[in-house]
Formats: sequence, structure tokens, C-alpha cells
Amino acid sequence: MSKVLLVTGASTGIGLETAKAAAAAGWSVVAGMRKPFDLPGIDVRPLDVTDPDSVAACVAGVAADHGRLDALVNNAGVGNTVPTIEQADLAAFRANIEVNFFGVVAMTKAALPHLRAAGGRVLTVGSTRGLVGQPFNEAYCAAKFAVEGFMEALAPVARGLGVTVVLVEPGPVLQTAFAANTGVTRESLLASAGPYEPVLRPYLDWVARTAWPGAQPAAEIAAIILAALADPDPPLRVLTSDWAREFAAVKLADPDGTEIRRRASSWLV
Ligand SMILES: NC(=O)c1ccc[n+]([C@@H]2O[C@H](COP(=O)([O-])OP(=O)(O)OC[C@H]3O[C@@H](n4cnc5c(N)ncnc54)[C@H](OP(=O)(O)O)[C@@H]3O)[C@@H](O)[C@H]2O)c1
Repeated sequence: MSKVLLVTGASTGIGLETAKAAAAAGWSVVAGMRKPFDLPGIDVRPLDVTDPDSVAACVAGVAADHGRLDALVNNAGVGNTVPTIEQADLAAFRANIEVNFFGVVAMTKAALPHLRAAGGRVLTVGSTRGLVGQPFNEAYCAAKFAVEGFMEALAPVARGLGVTVVLVEPGPVLQTAFAANTGVTRESLLASAGPYEPVLRPYLDWVARTAWPGAQPAAEIAAIILAALADPDPPLRVLTSDWAREFAAVKLADPDGTEIRRRASSWLV
């Protein structure tokens, strides 16, 4: 019987590539989407990670119909929509954290009983923006930092119960709907920037000029996710490129989390 994998936010980008690559690698894949569409060989189910009923129905349905859940890939996420907190209404700030953080919490909580039963794993797509705060990404960075703390705290405990926790941390990723899904453009950001326009404009120029150093295609991230799912003993944190490792190492003394996980695990025996 093939192992069962549930991927959230599987309609585009990293989630879609992961679902397709996992199905090709022999997993029984369940693709969670807000607006489901057919994917050959994949069980596509409705899933909004911010809706408790949707989360409960999806996870219970997978357990009932497949009889098990071996891995959850927390991938669903949204980008920042306003330049800074001065332009954000708090509802928009909270909405970002609702998807990027509480969506991960809700899915992980719902999946854990099944992952414990299967000796499975929860893999979450974080970001180097969860390790290093970056300009004009306040809500997004706050949410991704929260994901880091949540998963780093859970990892040694879950490990004691046979569940592996992994964070996959890309730097910039190309060929996804991430920027388009925010609904903002260079022009709309500049128009809403107010007094921040003199610092926003050079940032946007830098982005246009460099096209993001270290950027990787979504399919490359999916391959790294598949490898982390197959690795018998993956590190807590998988940085997806040399660029991401170097950038994270500027800040972290333990970039892949091995030492933190070892120390925290030693408190549990
Ligand atoms: N792109 C990057 O540069 C980058 C870098 C590092 C990390 N990441 C992370 O990678 C993950 C995937 O992003 P991506 O780049 O592949 O972008 P993407 O193409 O925009 O994919 C995001 C997915 O999340 C889904 N989603 C959004 N809100 C949701 C909700 N409430 N419930 C369920 N699904 C929801 C979207 O579904 P809809 O189609 O319904 O909107 C979409 O399928 C995210 O966690 C992101 O933070 C991205």
C-alpha cells in the first residue's frame, strides 16, 4: 500500500509541483485546494486552511478514505499586500498571519493523531524570510518567524512520539503565483506608500535589477521536499540553495537546526 501525502495549497507553484512529483514518485497524493480542479492520478479535495470546518473535513476525509496519513506538507501561503504597517489595516495584517501561521497550526493539529499512528512526518514550507526579517514584508516575516518557533518547539516532542518535523526554507522562488496572488503591482505599492515612497522605490528597483539573487524554480523546491520526505533522518531545517544557506548563516549559528534539536531532545529523556 503506498504512503499517503497531503499537500496544502496545491493549486499552483511549489504545492502543485510537489503534488505532481510525489505522485510520480509513488505516493498516494491528496492535493488540498481552495478551488479544486482535476489532476490526473491525484485525489483533489477542497481545503481552506483558515476555515476550521474545511480543515477538519479534509483531514477526516483523508483518514476515512485512505485509511492513513503518512505526511503533511504545509505549503499554503500568501505574500504581503501593503508596503509597511503604517499603510496596513490590522485586519489585512492579521489575515496574512491567519494563512501563513494559523493555517499551519490548524493543519498540523488536525493531522498529528494520524501522523503519530503512521510514524509519519510534517514538512512545512518556511522561508528565509522566517529567519531574516526583510524589508516591506512585515506581516509575512512575522508569520514565517512564528512558524519557525512553532515547529522548532514541536520537533523534539513530536520526535519522541515517532513524528518527524521538517522545515524546508527556500529563498526566492520563481514560476509560482506568489506575487500575482497578492494582487499588488509596483505601481499600486508605490501609490500606497505615502512617506515610505523614497525607501520603497529603490527597493523595487533593486528587485527589478537583480531579479532576486539565488532564485530557484518551483520544481527544484518540490524535488527538495520529496528528498526531505524520503530522507530517513532529515535535519530540522533544510535550506534549499547555497544562497539560502549563506544568507541564513549570517544570522544562525546552527543553520540546519541539528544542534538545537539535539539539545532540546536531551531534555526529554
Ligand atoms: N515564491 C517565493 O518566492 C517563496 C519563497 C519562500 C517560501 N515560499 C513559500 O512557499 C509556499 C508556496 O508558495 P508559492 O511560491 O508556490 O506561491 P503560490 O503559487 O501563490 O502558491 C500558494 C498556494 O497557497 C494557496 N493558498 C493561499 N491561501 C490559502 C488558504 N487560505 N487555504 C488553502 N490554500 C491557500 C494558494 O491557493 P489559491 O490558488 O486558492 O490562491 C496557492 O495554491 C508558501 O508557503 C510561501 O510562503 C515562497
